[in-house]
Amino acid sequence: MTNASRSTGVAIVGGGVIGLSCAFELARRGKSVTVIEREQTGFGASTVAAGMLTPSFEVEMTTPELVELQLDSLRRYPQFVADVESASGLSCGYRDEGTLWVSRHRDDELELDHLCQIQEDRGLPAKRLTGRETRGIEPYLSPRVIGGLLVETDHQVNSRLLSTALRAACLVVGVELVERAGVTAVDRSGGRIALSIESQGNRHTLHADQALLAAGVWLEDGLITPLPRIGMRPIKGQIVHLTGQPLINHVLRNSDVYIVPRAEGELLLGATEEEQGFNMEPTAGGTLDLLRYAFEILPGIYDLYVSEIDVGLRPAVSDHQPVIGPTDTEGIFIAGGHYRGGVLLAPSTAHWMADLMTTGNVPTPIEPFGIDRFSAEAQQEAAG
Ligand code: GLY
Repeated sequence: MTNASRSTGVAIVGGGVIGLSCAFELARRGKSVTVIEREQTGFGASTVAAGMLTPSFEVEMTTPELVELQLDSLRRYPQFVADVESASGLSCGYRDEGTLWVSRHRDDELELDHLCQIQEDRGLPAKRLTGRETRGIEPYLSPRVIGGLLVETDHQVNSRLLSTALRAACLVVGVELVERAGVTAVDRSGGRIALSIESQGNRHTLHADQALLAAGVWLEDGLITPLPRIGMRPIKGQIVHLTGQPLINHVLRNSDVYIVPRAEGELLLGATEEEQGFNMEPTAGGTLDLLRYAFEILPGIYDLYVSEIDVGLRPAVSDHQPVIGPTDTEGIFIAGGHYRGGVLLAPSTAHWMADLMTTGNVPTPIEPFGIDRFSAEAQQEAAG
C-alpha cells in the first residue's frame, strides 16, 4: 500500500458524460484536468442512455428554467459534436431526423393536443398530424396509430459512441484519466483541495486548485465532503436493444415507451422508471412492458432479434432538477442530478461550468440550479 501525493489544476470526480464533457471543455480553456472514475470513464448511466435530445418531450415535467437550459444545450449540440469528433477522430452518431409522438386512442390524442399547446406557448416548433400523415412519415407504424406530433428540432446522439469519442477527445486535449479509483474524501485544507483516492489497495492524495463533483448516482456515496445533502437517489431504467430490418428513421414516442433508431437497424426500446435502489438486474416484467408497448405501435418489431437488455441508474435528487454550480466550500463545484437529461444537458453543463470555474461568476442560465436550494434554511422555508 502506497501513500503518494500528486497535484492538478481541476480534479473531476466522475467520468460519465457530464464529467468528461466538463473535462474536455476545461482542458480546451487551458486548465490542467484530472478525472477520477470508480469504473472506466465513459461508462455507467451515460452509455445506457438512449441519447434522445428531446426537450419538447420532457416539457410537461420540467420547469421553464430547465426547458431553457435544455434548449440552450440542444442548440450547442452540433458544435459540441463537431469539436469532440474533430479532436477524437471518432463519430458520435448524431442524427437530426426529428422525433414523432404517436397516439393510439382518444386519451393519447388529448395528450398530444396538450403537448402541442405547451410547445406553442413556449415558442417551440411542433406539427400536429392525422393518423394518415403520421403513418406516411413512418410506414411501418401500426394502422392503429390515429395521430401524431412531429418535432423536427428534437434530435438524438448515440450515447455509447459519444462516450467513447469524449474519452478519446479528453486524452487528446491532455486530460489525465485515473480509472478504477474511488474518491473517499474531498476537503479544502491549506488553500487547496485535497482528494483522498483509493485504487486497488493503494491510497494517495490528489491536490487540486478546484474540484468538480460529477459522480452521478454515486455523488454522495461514501464521499466525505462539506456539502448539504442533496438526497441523490438512483432511478433504474431498463432498455431493450433489438436488431434486424431497419423499420423507422425518427425517434418514436408515446406516454408508455420510446423507440430510438440507431445505425444498421438497431432499435432501442426504453425505458422503465423504477425505484429499486442500486439494483442493476434486468427483469422479465420490465422487458415485457417495453416489448408490449413498442409492439402496439410498431408491430414489425416481432421479427427482430433481442440483442441486449441494458440497465442504467439515473441520478435524481428530490426535486428532479439538476444541481449545477458552486458549493459553500471555495473551489468545490458540483454538476449532478441530471436525472433523465444527462446526455442532452452535457454541452450546456460543460460550457456554463467552465465559465463559472474560470471566472468565478455564476452564469445566469445555471443560477436556478444552485445547491443552496438544499441548505437547511431553504429546506425550512419550503416546509413553511
Ligand atoms: N431520457 C430518457 C430516459 O431517461 O429514459
